[in-house]
Amino acid sequence: MQPVPEQSPLPDNGPPISDVGGPHGPAHVAIIMDGNGRWAKSRGLPRLAGHRAGGEAVRRSVAAAIRHGVRWLTLYAFSAENWRRPASEVLDLTSLLRHYLRSEISALTAEGVRLSVIGEPGRFAEDIQRNLSAAERLTAGNRRLHLTVALSYGGRTEIVRAARAAAAAIVEGRMRPEELDEPRFASFLATAGIPDPDLIVRTSGERRLSNFLLWQAAYAELVFLDVLWPDFGETEFAAALAQYAQRERRFGARPG
Ligand code: FPP
Repeated sequence: MQPVPEQSPLPDNGPPISDVGGPHGPAHVAIIMDGNGRWAKSRGLPRLAGHRAGGEAVRRSVAAAIRHGVRWLTLYAFSAENWRRPASEVLDLTSLLRHYLRSEISALTAEGVRLSVIGEPGRFAEDIQRNLSAAERLTAGNRRLHLTVALSYGGRTEIVRAARAAAAAIVEGRMRPEELDEPRFASFLATAGIPDPDLIVRTSGERRLSNFLLWQAAYAELVFLDVLWPDFGETEFAAALAQYAQRERRFGARPG
């Protein structure tokens, strides 16, 4: 019987630049970046200008995460449903992705950021797929922050794929049905080895998960901010952490 992968242990991260988030700050923050279009519209600009400004906010949030001692940051950059947007907007978003991959990888490496992708990167153009794989390989040894970018990602699809992989492991005799428990199931998800998010932030005032990290969100604290994504930065990141700090996390247990 071939062993089925277990959740790997937490990576040995280097120290944060500072520990502003405090020892009880969230280790894993996930963000649903929303509001680029409305930001552009309110300024009479094309949506592309909103997405470009959203890219700047991505940079600021990576810097803020590092500053606050966050170890895992997961960003919802492109949902599986985003392919249904007008072709011109999809082209703009994929061109931006191509641009960021080319321009940011050396900066991420210098900052000690490891980049991973979850979702269906295979639906993007071949050069983007190649650059994503190269970026994952190049940054694999970085330990300060593990940045996961969700691209063509859908939580339900991720769960169905995991179920299929678990079923295949059973059919092929690599796992017995009774061995399939929650940790083992999680090892078949795209996020295997990454702890569940402690905090999920959504910008723009919408209050939905929109198919993001459905399994992993089970006990996450949810923070909804009224700011549009392109206006997100250090102040808003700190505000989300402050809300998180007010929450009492019980993981289903009774108050002590
Ligand atoms: C939501 O705003 C945002 C997105 C669909 C994409 C997120 C993209 C970026 C942050 C820019 C960087 C891009 C990539 C691909 C790395 P929205 O367009 O849904 O805003 P709206 O709800 O106001 O219309």
